[in-house]
Amino acid sequence: MQPAAKAGEQPGAASSRPPLPAITVALPASRYSFVPRQPNLLDALRSEGFDLPFQCRAGYCGRCRVQLCQGEVRYRQQPLAWLNPGEILPCCCTASSDLTLQLPEAVVATGGWRD
Ligand code: FES
Repeated sequence: MQPAAKAGEQPGAASSRPPLPAITVALPASRYSFVPRQPNLLDALRSEGFDLPFQCRAGYCGRCRVQLCQGEVRYRQQPLAWLNPGEILPCCCTASSDLTLQLPEAVVATGGWRD
């Protein structure tokens, strides 16, 4: 008997997909960790309630930039936006290892993430 497939997946495919790396967000006095349900990092953060701003979703504008404290990401294609050392663009990358991120203060201050 095959395991039940999730919506949009072929029967038997659910167990063959490797788990996505864990994401940890460093908060002022704690940390919030979760396993994303989608590979795109911007979508993963927003689905957890982090109201991260974005505009182009293609690596051009730099609006979504966050600080990567630990881990590695992979870009579909090299982004064009200028980045400071340690910054990443979650709109156009996926985690290739467990990550620790620091989000802009304004995003953290909203407190909209699930707890
Ligand atoms: S939204 Fe434009 S670079 Fe991410």
